Amino acid sequence: MRENLQLNEAGELRHLLSIEGLKREHLERILDIAESFAVLPGRQVKKVPLLRGRIVTNLFFENSTRTRTTFELAAKLLSADVINFNVSVSATSKGETLLDTLRNLEAMHSDLFVVRHQHSGAAHFIARHVAPGVSVINAGDGWHAHPTQALLDMFTIRRHKGDFTPLRVAIVGDIQHSRVARSQIMALNTLGVTEVRIIGPCTLLPAEARSLGVHLYHDLESGLEEVDVIIMLRLQRERMEGALLPSAHEYFQLYGLTEARLKRARPDAIVMHPGPINRGVEIASEVADGPRSVILQQVSYGIAVRMAVMSLILGARGGENE
Ligand code: CP
Repeated sequence: MRENLQLNEAGELRHLLSIEGLKREHLERILDIAESFAVLPGRQVKKVPLLRGRIVTNLFFENSTRTRTTFELAAKLLSADVINFNVSVSATSKGETLLDTLRNLEAMHSDLFVVRHQHSGAAHFIARHVAPGVSVINAGDGWHAHPTQALLDMFTIRRHKGDFTPLRVAIVGDIQHSRVARSQIMALNTLGVTEVRIIGPCTLLPAEARSLGVHLYHDLESGLEEVDVIIMLRLQRERMEGALLPSAHEYFQLYGLTEARLKRARPDAIVMHPGPINRGVEIASEVADGPRSVILQQVSYGIAVRMAVMSLILGARGGENE
């Protein structure tokens, strides 16, 4: 990120646009606040009044199951009012520009926009144009960033492994087209893990990979040796130009995570996936549904992490004291 638009003059979060530009203290603070919210599902009354009177607008220009739903639930658990902007039935199809859409939604007194867009940089663009009292959270922009996904992944890893320092983490698959992988790599390195490995065919690893502070592997078996955490990614065909792969079947033969391949990792290694999963393409069902999989826990933890980010950004930090 060229300018650190996301911090205010005191160095606190005003927007969350990318992991880039955030310090270890910022990430740890979000994870610590999320811990206090993670206890709420076990209570009879799951709501807290931290964002009562605030308006959160979900502005999703691209499909989503997990992110949109958990942002909505997180905002409601914080007692905010939520507007779900449905792009398919909006005036965008009548030629309204992004900026004009934004101005109209701002006129409805939104305090926070949660933005997903197919173009990299869309969330930054919106953050540059919102009114001074309004904040923006990037819920995934093109190939660029998906910071709340990376944060919920870090929360999941910390819950299972405690300390980040000794960990070896492997990210497997289509790194080239993955905003999730870029954000995860930055978060893991900021939190000080021992090693981040990226594993995949040449066509799916980014040209700038080595500058990201990772070790590259093209062979899945050797890349998985002694790792503590395995993060599988789907093939993001909607962002691929041309044929980068022979076939899904052949991809699974080379890069699919099976029980046999999982044995290469440490015996207590966990298996993660941001979803949506493609069974039989990047992951076997026996692994996705097996005892080492924490894939559905990631989804649940996403609620607490998104509550933490929203409450921090809107300056209502009482959740950690409850
Ligand atoms: N992980 C993730 O971003 O999933 P959705 O596309 O369903 O939000």
